[in-house]
Amino acid sequence: MNSKNLAGQPHIAYRGDELFMEDVSLSALAQQHGTPLFVYSKAAMLDALSAYQRGFAGREVQICYAMKANSTLGVIQVFAQAGCGFDVVSLGELTRVLAAGGQARKVIFSGVGKKRAEMRAALQAGIGCFNVESEAELDVLSEVAQEMGMRAPVSIRVNPNVDPQTHPYISTGLKGNKFGIAHERVVHTYQRAAALPGLNVRGIDCHIGSQITQASPYLDAMDRMLDLVQAIETAGVPLHHIDLGGGLGINYNGETPPQADQLWAQLLAKLDARGYGKRALMIEPGRSLVGNAGVCLTEVLYLKPGEQKNFLIVDAAMNDLPRPAMYQAYHQIVPVKPRSTESQTWDVVGPICESGDWIGHDRQLNAQPGDLLGVLSAGAYCMSMSSNYNTRNRAAEVLVDGAQTHLIRDRETYADQMRQEHLSTAP
Ligand code: LLP
Repeated sequence: MNSKNLAGQPHIAYRGDELFMEDVSLSALAQQHGTPLFVYSKAAMLDALSAYQRGFAGREVQICYAMKANSTLGVIQVFAQAGCGFDVVSLGELTRVLAAGGQARKVIFSGVGKKRAEMRAALQAGIGCFNVESEAELDVLSEVAQEMGMRAPVSIRVNPNVDPQTHPYISTGLKGNKFGIAHERVVHTYQRAAALPGLNVRGIDCHIGSQITQASPYLDAMDRMLDLVQAIETAGVPLHHIDLGGGLGINYNGETPPQADQLWAQLLAKLDARGYGKRALMIEPGRSLVGNAGVCLTEVLYLKPGEQKNFLIVDAAMNDLPRPAMYQAYHQIVPVKPRSTESQTWDVVGPICESGDWIGHDRQLNAQPGDLLGVLSAGAYCMSMSSNYNTRNRAAEVLVDGAQTHLIRDRETYADQMRQEHLSTAP
């Protein structure tokens, strides 16, 4: 059978005249579950993970999936079963990890605004490490742990001040960002942390940004991290691990980020050269593990040709796929069953009452009402950032595993949406 892969999407391909994910017809899935529908390839996730595992062969490394990228239980479960830890940023995320069978001791808790109740619950659960983002947070965490008769394992997030050369909203390691401890205060902060009775200093961490498509910002960050490790240890505070965060980009539109194993070959060479080759490592990848594993299927509702623009109105919208509206992000849009006639230029837009509700500008497509389109690279930061804006139900999600499919999230209902609301008087 004729099979044609799509760039950057090894598990999605045309077989004959139809788009498949692994061995499953996407139009059959849409027929069964309706649209918009998110569909994920388990093999794509495990392949992305194995690129990291190959890169780290023979080293002591904990891969903590940054589950903010996609926090659906059925996705977390894939990584938990593969032995991953998790980078969480709320008690909600920790609750999901535990519900999906993940191990608390492999969890690291990041984020600038942890509440006392979240710290308490995470200590109770026995998480592996807190990534602390400010001096004030160190004091509070120490207090909370002491009240519980415990010592909280901590790593301090430092701000290495390197430019990840990505969208400004997703750069996190520059001086002007709210994240991490400024370079010049790091040693002082470690000394403070080491003196606090409720803390057990374990490591150092950084995260410089997201959708990074070059190796150089990582190499710079690693250099600065190692300078800091040296300074911190010289000041008398030993460190168990180095956590270099996440951020590796994916191919949305022809980007060519380094493969995880190639990137880490360079980073490990640097570690070895500087004498830190035996140090325990952690990483927090999100997008690069799930982004290209997902597609969002959407049905064409109307064609609305115009004088200046042609609009192709589909049933997915910015509440399902918020990245274009938020970051001017590009997602490839492809027909599930291509038509042979000539294509035209369309803006693909959703039904939401905002001009910002677009999914793709100026796309060459040939589609008719009732046709299905696939919005690609929709595994990361789509469902996890979705909303109910315009009282739209959140989409269903399906996990594909070879020829098998698992419905991992039911389509939301209006009753689900209204469940927590109350009228103030009888209607
Ligand atoms: N660790 C920390 C502390 C983070 O803040 C993040 C992402 C990650 C790890 C994972 O980064 P990744 O490997 O996924 O790049 N919503 C945006 C992306 C925001 C990323 C926020 N932090 C988007 O859709 O592009």
